[in-house]
Amino acid sequence: MHKIAVIPGDGTGPEVVREGLKVLEAAAQKAGFKYETQTYDWGGDRYLATGEVLPPSAADELKQFNVIFLGAIGHPDVKPGILEKGILLALRFALDQYINLRPVKLYPGVWTPLKDKGPEDIDFVVVRENTEGLYTGAGGFLKKGTPDEVAVQESINTRKGAERCCRYAFELTRKRNKHNKLTLCGKTNVLTYAFDMWERTFHEVAKDYPDITPDYAHVDATCMWMVKNPEWFDVIVTDNMFGDIITDLGAMIQGGMGIAAGGNINPEGVSMFEPIGGSAPKYTNMNVINPLAAIAAVQMLLEEIGERKAADLVDKAIAKVTGEKLKSMAAGRMGYSTTEVGDMVAKFVAEG
Ligand code: IPM
Ligand code: MN
Repeated sequence: MHKIAVIPGDGTGPEVVREGLKVLEAAAQKAGFKYETQTYDWGGDRYLATGEVLPPSAADELKQFNVIFLGAIGHPDVKPGILEKGILLALRFALDQYINLRPVKLYPGVWTPLKDKGPEDIDFVVVRENTEGLYTGAGGFLKKGTPDEVAVQESINTRKGAERCCRYAFELTRKRNKHNKLTLCGKTNVLTYAFDMWERTFHEVAKDYPDITPDYAHVDATCMWMVKNPEWFDVIVTDNMFGDIITDLGAMIQGGMGIAAGGNINPEGVSMFEPIGGSAPKYTNMNVINPLAAIAAVQMLLEEIGERKAADLVDKAIAKVTGEKLKSMAAGRMGYSTTEVGDMVAKFVAEG
């Protein structure tokens, strides 16, 4: 019995989560596994009503689950940063979800802004370090609010953090068995401490994976190649900030936020899967938002809990819906409503 915590969150989060759960149920019936869910109301509305972003027990409570399904965090009436730091980043850190896994996969029939590139060209995975770098909050102000103000924001990189991230990426590259190439994305020409350590760590870990070709690209060049020759990539490993940036670029070349999913993974603990597009508040309750990103998050969640067959069914059903049904990935332009898209994927899973 898989125990799944569900955090629908803000804006269109609950709508896309509903469709994700619909597909989860269809997959469970078809593949024959059992699960139970518990829903938490954490998000902007609860914060505005109670003044609390997360109850103090949140992380401990979540540790009792096998996995977490998150909708979206972000509310138009809450100052930017409060919910993101107080919920999303807080959970990533508290649950030590040290990997942020973002597949950049162009499904059939999905429009990409890259001319002459298709699903066979755009299919790689970014492994983003998820607990260190510029995201730790280390730093501070001096003489704040004066003309002599100083602001320092430090990038914290630990040998252990880089090593476990690189190791995860090498393992994943081996498991994918595609080009068997792992690219470290860094900035060794300028960030001569942080990426010096990353690069040394990367090559040391590489010794345990003689079947994988280690490769390197600066982050600016990575952006260039992602647009010009995305087929060169198999798996990319990088730090937290660079990973944040290049995965939004990745989401765009795979067809936009309507389809992009990600996982916050603690391979030894509790992982959390989410559509990466945010809460899109202006589309709330209009039944127009694309639920495929949330459904793709369910697909990743199923892989993580070891339900490979179910994950595969969902992946194929998504491809069928994008390839044969949807007109566009954009909210309001799919040719179907949110619930209809969920119904179609669930139906294809059941028929799969
Ligand atoms: C993401 C988001 C978050 C991040 C924000 C909302 C804090 O952009 O998941 O990529 O920067 O990690
Ligand atoms: Mn981001």
